[in-house]
Amino acid sequence: MTATFPDLHLSPRLLAPGTAPADLAAHRRRHGPLEYGDPESVLRAVAASGLTGRGGAAFPTHRKLVAVAEAGRRTGRAPVVVANGAEGEPASHKDRTLLHRSPHLVLDGLRAAAHAVGAGKAYIAVGDGASGLESALAQRTGDPLPVEVVRLPASFLAGQSSALARYVSGGAALPADQLPPVRERGVHRAPTLVQNVETLAHLALVARHGADWYRTAGTPAQPGSALCTLHAAGHEPRVVEAPYGLPLARLLPLEGASAVLVGGYHGTWIPACEAARLTLDATLLGAGVLAALPAGRCGVAETARVLRHLALQSAGQCGPCLNGLPRIATAFRTLAAPGPQGTARTDLTRWSGLVEGRGACHHPDGTVRLVRSALTTFAAEIDSHAHGHCTATDRTPLLPVPEDRN
Ligand SMILES: Cc1cc2nc3c(=O)[nH]c(=O)nc-3n(C[C@H](O)[C@H](O)[C@H](O)COP(=O)(O)O)c2cc1C
Ligand code: SF4
Repeated sequence: MTATFPDLHLSPRLLAPGTAPADLAAHRRRHGPLEYGDPESVLRAVAASGLTGRGGAAFPTHRKLVAVAEAGRRTGRAPVVVANGAEGEPASHKDRTLLHRSPHLVLDGLRAAAHAVGAGKAYIAVGDGASGLESALAQRTGDPLPVEVVRLPASFLAGQSSALARYVSGGAALPADQLPPVRERGVHRAPTLVQNVETLAHLALVARHGADWYRTAGTPAQPGSALCTLHAAGHEPRVVEAPYGLPLARLLPLEGASAVLVGGYHGTWIPACEAARLTLDATLLGAGVLAALPAGRCGVAETARVLRHLALQSAGQCGPCLNGLPRIATAFRTLAAPGPQGTARTDLTRWSGLVEGRGACHHPDGTVRLVRSALTTFAAEIDSHAHGHCTATDRTPLLPVPEDRN
C-alpha cells in the first residue's frame, strides 16, 4: 500500500531552493554577509536563541560552546572545531541534503562557532556523498580559519563524537573511552567542539539575525525548526524542514499506518494513534528520522533487521556490545519469525537492563530504547507470532539497512 505525504507549505530556513548547490554569491544574496561581534556576543546570541544540537541528543549548544572555550583557556591550548556530517544513521538523509544544497551555511556556522570558542583549527567530517564541499571551500578565500575536509568510513559509529575525534587525529573511527570528554581532550588532545552540521547551519543564522528571529519559529520551550527525513511506503525518503511543535500528522501519512518510528535507529516506535496526537519534539526527534509503518507491514520484522545492523556495527570493544547486542538481535529475530519463542521475550527485557549505561558510548542505550519501544508497540503482533501467525500482508522492507544492498 502506498500513502501520499501531506502537502507542506513551510518556509525553510536552511535549505536553499531548488536541488542544485547554492554557490557563495547565491548564498550571500539569500542570507546576507556573515557578520558577528566578539566571541562573547556570539555566545550570548546562541544562549538566548535556545539552540540545541541536531545530531541526536538535543544538547544545549551554548553550554557546549562555553565548556570548550573554558577548556581552551584553562589548558592554554587553542580548541579545535569539528563539523559532524557523518550521518551514519542509514535512514537519515538530512545532513547530506543540507551539505549538498547549502554548504556555505554550514561553513558559516563552523566559522562562527570557531570564533566563539577561540579555535585554532577547523575540520568538516563527512561521508562519501558530500562531493561539493571542496569547491565550496575554494570559493571562500577570505575565511580567517582554514577548514580541512575529512572523509569518514561508512559506519553507524563514525559520527559518535569520540570516534570522530579519534579518526581526525589519525586513529580508527571507533568510540574511545569518554573520560575526559572530547570537549576537554579531543582532536590531537586539544579541547574539541563537535557539532552536527545542521546545528552549525542554524548557528550561522543565529549569528546573523539574532535570537529573537530564531525564536519566531517553533515553540517557546523548543524554539526553531529541524530538518527531518520522512519515510513512507512507496516513496523515496523526503527531507523537509519543519518547526518544533508542528503536529506529526502534518508531516507523515498516518492514516493507514500502524506505528511511527520517531528518531531513527536509536529512537522509539510509537503506535500511530498516539503519534497522531504528538508534535515535533526535539527530545524525541533524535537524528530527525520519522517513518510511518503501514498497517500491512510487520514492525517486529522491521525492528529485527535494524537490530541486526546495529549489532554488526558495534566494534565489540565493550562488554555490552560484544555480548549483549548480538544476543539481543538474535532473540528479536526469534520474535520476528512466527512460531515458538521460548524465553526470547523475557531475555530481551533482562539483557536490555544489563547493557544499558554500561558502554563507553551510548550505542547500547540507543539500541535498548528501540528494543523496549518495539516490545510495547508491537506486543499484539509478537503474541500473534507466538501463535504461529503473522498479520503482515506485505513483506517489503520499509527501513533501509545497508546489508539490504549487499
Ligand atoms: C553511536 C552514535 C553515533 C552517532 N552518530 C552521529 C552522526 O552520524 N552525526 C552526528 O551529528 N552526531 C552523531 N552522534 C552524536 C555525536 O556523538 C555528538 O553528540 C553530536 O555530533 C554533537 O553535535 P550536536 O550537539 O550539534 O548534536 C552519534 C552518537 C552515537 C552514540
Ligand atoms: S559501547 Fe559499543 S559501540 Fe560504544 S564504544 Fe563500546 S563497543 Fe563500541
